[in-house]
Amino acid sequence: MPMRQRLIAGNWKMYKTRQEAHSFARELGSLWPPTDGGAAPYALAQLPEAVVCAPFTSLAELVDVLAKSATRLGAQNVHEQPEGAFTGEISAVMLRELGCAYVVIGHSERRAYYRETSEAVAHKSVVALEAFMAPIVCVGESLEEREAGRTQEVIAAQLEPVLQSLYAYAHAHDGVTKSSGLDVGATVVAYEPIWAIGTGKSSSATDAETVIGWIRARIAERLGQSVAGRMRILYGGSVKPDNIATYLAQPDIDGALVGGASLQPSSFVELLRQSIRT
Ligand code: PGA
Repeated sequence: MPMRQRLIAGNWKMYKTRQEAHSFARELGSLWPPTDGGAAPYALAQLPEAVVCAPFTSLAELVDVLAKSATRLGAQNVHEQPEGAFTGEISAVMLRELGCAYVVIGHSERRAYYRETSEAVAHKSVVALEAFMAPIVCVGESLEEREAGRTQEVIAAQLEPVLQSLYAYAHAHDGVTKSSGLDVGATVVAYEPIWAIGTGKSSSATDAETVIGWIRARIAERLGQSVAGRMRILYGGSVKPDNIATYLAQPDIDGALVGGASLQPSSFVELLRQSIRT
């Protein structure tokens, strides 16, 4: 099985003005990628992929500055239709045009505060792939659901419409030229137990691995072993420089989706450094 490149995605949420975003990106450029005082000390495949998912208003500002630190740009939401009369919304093609390579979809805050359904998440994932952006699809259970032993049931319900849509997408694109969208295996899943987001209470690495391994098996059932082997699955929820290594030590955890600890260049870079494969 090919080794998956690790991925560290910062989710800035509704933080940072355009100017603050610019300062972050400039500072990041002096810290990453690592040069360790001379020639590049690492092979490209050892380095994690760095992604910053910023508010819409900073995307245009960030793309060129982030490129200097080999960091890719992501958005935090996208509309589920390719275009139309949807006042206030932003389409996948618009984001791609600004240079976004990723888009977070179905974050628990969006599911909770904006009633985003798993069906909408499924549509958005396909719209993103069609526009050549990799969706970062978020799933996760609440504390109540976990304590009731319903974690798998809840995640299965969140995942099922997405996997069905991805299956249809992959088959519609079978044999069609590559210009029709990204490979389905570019999809990223982020497992974020809701009770661990922004609370300082992280899931144990072995608990996270159990859920993530189960998610990968589910993907393999629906989309085949090869796609499941290529897709990256992240853990998210109070990931910090001092706990990321325990997650990365797990075979199915390919990186992290990080809120709070991604807001300072120094801690974001520390997360990246700890994700270098040695
Ligand atoms: P946190 O947020 O790292 O601050 O817990 C994670 C997320 O919401 O993606």
